[in-house]
Amino acid sequence: MTAANFDAWVRRELDAVESALTDWVPPDAPAGLGLAMRYGVLDGGKRLRPLLVLAACEAVGGLRGAALRAACAVELIHAYSLVHDDMPCMDNDVLRRGKPTVHVQFGEAQAMLAGDAMQALAFEVLTPTADDGAAARPDAVPAALQARLCSLLARAAGHAGMAGGQAIDLASIGRPLDEHVLRDMHHRKTGALLQASVLMGAACGPVSASAWAALGVYGDALGLAFQVVDDILDVTQASETLGKTAGKDLSNNKPTYVTVLGLDAARRHADELRDKAQAALTSSGLDATWLRLLADKVVERDN
Ligand code: IPE
Ligand code: IPE
Ligand code: MG
Ligand code: MG
Ligand code: MG
Repeated sequence: MTAANFDAWVRRELDAVESALTDWVPPDAPAGLGLAMRYGVLDGGKRLRPLLVLAACEAVGGLRGAALRAACAVELIHAYSLVHDDMPCMDNDVLRRGKPTVHVQFGEAQAMLAGDAMQALAFEVLTPTADDGAAARPDAVPAALQARLCSLLARAAGHAGMAGGQAIDLASIGRPLDEHVLRDMHHRKTGALLQASVLMGAACGPVSASAWAALGVYGDALGLAFQVVDDILDVTQASETLGKTAGKDLSNNKPTYVTVLGLDAARRHADELRDKAQAALTSSGLDATWLRLLADKVVERDN
């Protein structure tokens, strides 16, 4: 597989995800809520989590229609977490994906509701019903798979995952953390959803217990690497490149991999985690070229 093949695959999948999200995020939700939801979800972001879902599904030869729904559901949860993360009660940020944040554009109450509605929509997207006419369509999702996908996503998004990690993050402001506490926070607030992306893709196809375990290790290492790199980029890149306010962790007095390990050690750690993720793929026995290249992308990105 060449880099050109990978780029073409990424472009094709990004188009598919954008078009599905455009169909599924309702413009007509009442009192401007739909506009705030579409503003928070569409036309922005790297869509890394959807790419992980689709790459994992391809590696196991899974159901494409189900995986596209899972890809959009994960992105909806992620986009909702960003809307709330940026609010004044959390990180208080005014720039996201190169645009004013949702609460700046629509007000705090609407931003809170848009996040709430995006979270619920994620689970609607995963559970198409006969009433939707979906049973006969190529994006039908068997009932047992719907339940599995909902379970994986709910556990990654809730108290044990993203929301729990965000609570630790806010409770840690101004406090020096041990590396193991920092790792736990990053695993939850960011790693859990990335790992769930990989496993949701894998759940769409037949997968052996050993390949499932290997993909779990891959997702876990990659998820942590992702937040380590996010911490690094906060201090090394400009706001224009990031599409969000650079230097925000320092100004918010947040403990990060850069403050705890230092910049060079944080970079080395991200590389080690990438190696660990890729070794797990090798041990999975799957043909997982896209997942391997996505791990490179996570560590080598500049935004
Ligand atoms: C940013 O995630 C928030 C974190 C979990 C670190 P991304 O860097 O994936 O943000 P988008 O989706 O590309 O905007
Ligand atoms: C956010 O972490 C993790 C989420 C669950 C949204 P950050 O607060 O570091 O994300 P950015 O840097 O604002 O994107
Ligand atoms: Mg935050
Ligand atoms: Mg933030
Ligand atoms: Mg950050």
